[in-house]
Amino acid sequence: DTTAATGVPAPEASPGADELAARIATGLPTGFVWGAATSAYQIEGGAREGGRGPSIWDVFARTPGMTSNGENGDVAADHLHRYREDVALMAGLGLGAYRFSVAWPRIVPAGSGAVNPDGLAFYDRLVDELLAAGIDPWLTLYHWDLPQPLQDAGGWPNRDTALRFADYTEHVVSALGDRVRHWSTLNEPWCSAFEGHLTGRHAPGVRDAGAAVRAVHHLLLAHGLGTAVLRAHGAADVGITLNLIPAEPSPDTAGAGDTRGGDTGAGDAVRLVDGQQIRLWLDPVLHGTYPSDVIADFARAGAELPAQDGDLAVIAQPVDWIGVNYYAPHIVAPGPDPSPKPTPFAGAGNVTRVPTNEDVTALGWPVRPRSFLALLRRLGADYPGVPFYIHENGAAYDDEVSPDGTVHDPLRVRYLAGHLDAVRQASEDGVDVRGYFVWSLLDNFEWAEGYRMRFGIVHVDFESLVRTPKSSGLWYSRLIREHRAAS
Ligand code: NOJ
Repeated sequence: DTTAATGVPAPEASPGADELAARIATGLPTGFVWGAATSAYQIEGGAREGGRGPSIWDVFARTPGMTSNGENGDVAADHLHRYREDVALMAGLGLGAYRFSVAWPRIVPAGSGAVNPDGLAFYDRLVDELLAAGIDPWLTLYHWDLPQPLQDAGGWPNRDTALRFADYTEHVVSALGDRVRHWSTLNEPWCSAFEGHLTGRHAPGVRDAGAAVRAVHHLLLAHGLGTAVLRAHGAADVGITLNLIPAEPSPDTAGAGDTRGGDTGAGDAVRLVDGQQIRLWLDPVLHGTYPSDVIADFARAGAELPAQDGDLAVIAQPVDWIGVNYYAPHIVAPGPDPSPKPTPFAGAGNVTRVPTNEDVTALGWPVRPRSFLALLRRLGADYPGVPFYIHENGAAYDDEVSPDGTVHDPLRVRYLAGHLDAVRQASEDGVDVRGYFVWSLLDNFEWAEGYRMRFGIVHVDFESLVRTPKSSGLWYSRLIREHRAAS
């Protein structure tokens, strides 16, 4: 058994994955969208080419100690030069859709003001290449690479950044709106706000609760303003991509009473994570309100959402779907902080992510398809009426090229099969889930983790830049074909 696309022998699937594939292929509805996802900074390279300006990730990755081995996205997977080969790979795998992001610093190198035609021209060529291959482009406008000049002017904690995002959106939709139908405004704004401004683990590396909370509101405002611009250009399929991480109590602490002040038990830890990961984003976007318990948590940290009159109406204008990124649950317990006023943020102070010795990926993230199913059921129940697309799901493992040139990644096959079966189950239960994009098409620059964390269904040798589909890519490809045959 070989695939025509690659000539690589199809590897043995891990036990159960083929049976699961058959069930998934027949269980998911006709028209279900099959894709893979990437983002600009993680794959493009060419950081100084084509008139691109610097982004906060260029600067952050150059700051000693911020990324694994000091790695950065200067070359990455060299997709800027190899996009044709990459589109051909996608076509060979049978993908129906491709989710990618546009680099704001390629389009508006100074963050505001002049547009760079070379930057637009790259995405123009990419979109044409995708369409010629029968692959539907899903474009994300912001996947974390803020132009550095906007950071110098205050970044996301500064309201003006949201207005500049609307201008940037205008340039992109004017150039590509005749061919791109699916638009996501932001990718995982939780990470931009909290990893970027509270933990400092992501660019711009700020550690300031007030800045993080201001960033939350301005990111949401940017989503709303960007959506209005897209609508004005006739875009009919618009949404936002969120990492809706479900919180689950550690078995050791679930139900354990709290003895340190009444609000730091596991139950409260679950509420706190749930509030900041899920409700803080979905409530304003879908219902036009901020969750009051989350506002109260922020107030305990002396932080306030800088909402002005009318902002929530902008934020809550209708979307066509929510993009869901899911990898693993947060397993939480009351943290070690004994102070009466613990830090009221998920992942800090009074909430601990409990290390687990269960089945985990190379990043230590628990493999729990049942948590994914529970999340999808909860989303369907609590936020009815809006379709969901899985915009990211996948796993990092230490993949190696075998002497015969193949890459065997049975653990990733098992991960994908289990999680896609959860999507199938949710769909059969009536949750309106319409598509799935595996993270990622290619091994890439995994932010602070650098290149050692490989998420691709296609292996990239970062010396030679040679691409090799992994057994997971071939398994996914067969699943897509089986689903098409069954529909
Ligand atoms: C979410 C992010 O959107 C993506 O950039 C990242 O690589 C994956 N998660 C894996 O961590």
